[in-house]
Amino acid sequence: MFEPVDSLIHGARLPGRAPDPCEDDAPWFLPRPPERRVHGDALLDRTLSADRLLRRSQHDNLRRMADDLFLRRSVWNSVPVRVLFEFNRRCNVKCVHCDIRRAGTKELGLDVFERVLDEVGHGAFEVMPLVGGEPTLAPIREAAARCRRRGQWLNFITNGVLFTREWFEPVADVTARVQFSLHAHDAATFERVIPGADFDVVTRNVRDVAAIGRTTGVQVLACIVPMYGMLERLHEYVRFVADLGVERIIVQNLYPHTTRKDALMPEGCADPAVRREAFARALETAIELGVHVETNVPELWGDPRNVPRSASPFDLLQDSAELVAQFAPEFCISTAMQTVIEHDGTVLPCIRDRIPLGNVHQESFLELWNGTRMQALRESLFRAKPRPACRLCRSFYLGHP
Ligand SMILES: C[S@@+](CC[C@H](N)C(=O)[O-])C[C@H]1O[C@@H](n2cnc3c(N)ncnc32)[C@H](O)[C@@H]1O
Ligand code: SF4
Repeated sequence: MFEPVDSLIHGARLPGRAPDPCEDDAPWFLPRPPERRVHGDALLDRTLSADRLLRRSQHDNLRRMADDLFLRRSVWNSVPVRVLFEFNRRCNVKCVHCDIRRAGTKELGLDVFERVLDEVGHGAFEVMPLVGGEPTLAPIREAAARCRRRGQWLNFITNGVLFTREWFEPVADVTARVQFSLHAHDAATFERVIPGADFDVVTRNVRDVAAIGRTTGVQVLACIVPMYGMLERLHEYVRFVADLGVERIIVQNLYPHTTRKDALMPEGCADPAVRREAFARALETAIELGVHVETNVPELWGDPRNVPRSASPFDLLQDSAELVAQFAPEFCISTAMQTVIEHDGTVLPCIRDRIPLGNVHQESFLELWNGTRMQALRESLFRAKPRPACRLCRSFYLGHP
């Protein structure tokens, strides 16, 4: 398994899944019940009529995606709505929990970026300029100029070391979301997780970017994987980031296959009672302070009080994931909505398993998007015969991969 970017907990913004209006378990070779279409279209109409962010062609693409899902097509008329583009796989630090291998990795040029946007830019509305690297090491101003022209929004996940106000301001107008990986709220623990990084610099950057977010609407998040005893202190962490001006946090588990997992998670963390109590306390603190928690941690999931303090126009980016669940509940949200282009041009349907579809240096993106491997993957999902890795992934992400 390869899981370099992990904020992609689609649908995790929602306090609980919208109830499935039709509990049909019709086999794949029979048409879906018409009420699924009716409920799905109602959701689509509500979502699109409330939206002020996207262009008409991007709305049309979402409608085509709904059709592709509802009709269980192997060849799709829609294009992915989110593009993860790996300009490089370099990083400026080495976190203790990060298993990404960088030896021999390449640079992917702006010419390829431009070519992919030429193919999918009419429908795609979100660009993540990273896969397994650090986005502050990518040519962001140039990429942002291309997104600005075409109506795409940037979504960053960053270690925050170089994500200064000065770096961010020129691209803030084309940014939807910034997620800072801030795995502790005290300098000593933070620097144990990211040796060599300066806690004061990163927290200053979070504070500065959160202030920009309050004026532009950009969502600014702090993300924590609780390590080195942070679980018991999670409620303090929530208070600390709220003080920095952050209104949304992500709490997530370590990937199950993390190499140093045992060293990073102290014994107590495995105890279900300790976990329950720590998460409950953190959630109460978040609710008290108006901090919204996105998560794939079962203990934090599903509380109806856990809603964002204020709506953001960029909520659409997360909420559109619900369309997949409504039109084709058996399907994978990642595979439906996104595509991954790695540093060497390899195209993958998701970041949690390696299913190479081909390479954009050899074929056009759209040939790969509807190529035989992608068709086979779609069929396996529609027929409820997912690959073992897809099954695992679905359970790690609480049914909403
Ligand atoms: C791989 S990084 C890439 C982006 C950027 N360099 C950063 O660290 O934010 C994306 C996210 O994955 C998290 N991550 C890395 N290894 C992980 C692991 N073993 N378990 C859970 N999350 C992990 C990071 O902490 C970070 O929040
Ligand atoms: S900053 Fe991100 S990519 Fe770099 S080592 Fe840490 S988790 Fe890995």
